[in-house]
Amino acid sequence: MSAPVLSYTKEVYRQTYKDIDPTLSGLSTEGKVVLITGASGDIGRATAVAFAASRPKALVLLGRSEEKLQETKKSVEASQKAVTLKLYTADLCIDKDTFEIFEEVKKTFGRIDVLVHCAGILPTVVPLAKANPTTFIDGYKTTIVGTLVTAQAFLRVNETAQEAYQKKLENFQELDTALKTAKESGEAETAQLEQLKKQCQEAKQALRHKDITFINVTTAGIVYPPFHGMGAYVSSKMAAVKLLECFAAENKCVRLHNVHPGFLRTAMSEKLSKTMQLPFKYDDISLTSDFLVWIASPEAEFLDGRLVFAAWDVKQLKARQNFIIGEKPGTEELCLGFKGFPRYENGILLDGLEEESEAEKQIETTS
Ligand SMILES: NC(=O)c1ccc[n+]([C@@H]2O[C@H](COP(=O)([O-])OP(=O)(O)OC[C@H]3O[C@@H](n4cnc5c(N)ncnc54)[C@H](OP(=O)(O)O)[C@@H]3O)[C@@H](O)[C@H]2O)c1
Repeated sequence: MSAPVLSYTKEVYRQTYKDIDPTLSGLSTEGKVVLITGASGDIGRATAVAFAASRPKALVLLGRSEEKLQETKKSVEASQKAVTLKLYTADLCIDKDTFEIFEEVKKTFGRIDVLVHCAGILPTVVPLAKANPTTFIDGYKTTIVGTLVTAQAFLRVNETAQEAYQKKLENFQELDTALKTAKESGEAETAQLEQLKKQCQEAKQALRHKDITFINVTTAGIVYPPFHGMGAYVSSKMAAVKLLECFAAENKCVRLHNVHPGFLRTAMSEKLSKTMQLPFKYDDISLTSDFLVWIASPEAEFLDGRLVFAAWDVKQLKARQNFIIGEKPGTEELCLGFKGFPRYENGILLDGLEEESEAEKQIETTS
C-alpha cells in the first residue's frame, strides 16, 4: 500500500510539466558552466540531459565508471548535438584527484556556475542493532567526505565569485555604517537620509543574488519518521545537509539548495528493493531532472538555503515566496530546525507564539 502523499504545495507532480521545461527561456543556462557529480548514475544521467536542453556554455560530467559516463555522453548527444561536454572519472573522496580535475575545468572554462551533486551511495540496509561498527563509516565516507571535497573544490574554482560577493558585502557595510552615522548625528537632511536608506536596501537586496549555485541531491528520509534499516543512509544524508549549511554560512557567495529528488527507479533504489519495499510509487525521472534545472534558475533564487522536494509545484512555491523568505520567529520555513525552539528571546516570549500557560506563569511568580 502506498503511503499518503505529504506535501508542501497543494499540487504535486510525478513527472515533468510545462513550468519546469528546461527549454524555457527563464531556465536557460546560456553562458554558464554546469558540473554534475554522479553523472554516471541514473539521476545524474537524466540531469545531464535536462541541463543540456537548457543550453549551457559547457557541461562537465563526473563519475567513477568511465563506461557509464560514456553512456551518459551518448544520451546527452542523442538529444543535444551542439553541447560542449567534458567527462572526468574520479572518486570524490580522493581530494587530490578531485581538486586536479576542478583545476583543469577552471583552466578550460574559467569557473563553474552551477554544481549539481548527484553522487551518493546506499550503505548496507540493516537494523542499527546489527550494523557492523567497523564498516559503518564506509557508508558515511562518500556522503560526508565526498560532499566536503566537492564543496571545497567548487569554491577553489570560483575565486572571482567570492571576490565579487565580498565587494558587494563591503558596499552594503559601508552604506549601513553611513546610514547609522547619519541617523545618530541628527544633522542629515530628510532627503539625504531617504537616499541613504534606499541605497542601503538596494545593496542588501544585491546580496541575495549569488553568482554560484550548489545543488545537493538529498533525501526526504531526513525529515520523515525513520524507516527501519535506513539509519546509516538517512543519518549520513542529514549530516551532509548540515555540513553544507555550515559551508554556505562560511562562504556567503554560495547559493545552496537541498533537493529531495522523489522516488526513482535507479541502480540505488534497485539495490534497496532487494532488502526492503518502501511504500512509495516510483516517480518519472523527468520530474527530477527538469526540477533540478528549475532550482538552478533565477526563478528559484528565493529558495537559497532551503530543502525542497522535486514533486512540489513551482508555481505554488513562487506564490509563497514572501512567506518563505519573510522573517519568522523560530526556525525558517523549509529549513531544518528544531520544533518549538526558540520560544523566548532574552526571556521575552517571541511574537506569534501561543501565550504562556498558567502553569508557566505560576513558576515565574513563585520563583
Ligand atoms: N533513487 C532514488 O529514489 C533516490 C531518492 C532519494 C535520494 N536519492 C539520491 O540521489 C542521488 C543519486 O542517486 P541514484 O539513485 O541516481 O543512484 P545511482 O544510479 O547509484 O548513482 C550514484 C552515483 O554516485 C556516484 N558515486 C558513488 N560514490 C562515489 C564516489 N565516492 N565518488 C564519485 N562518485 C560516486 C556513482 O558513480 P559510479 O556509478 O560511476 O560508481 C553514480 O554516478 C544520491 O545522492 C541518492 O542518495 C536517490
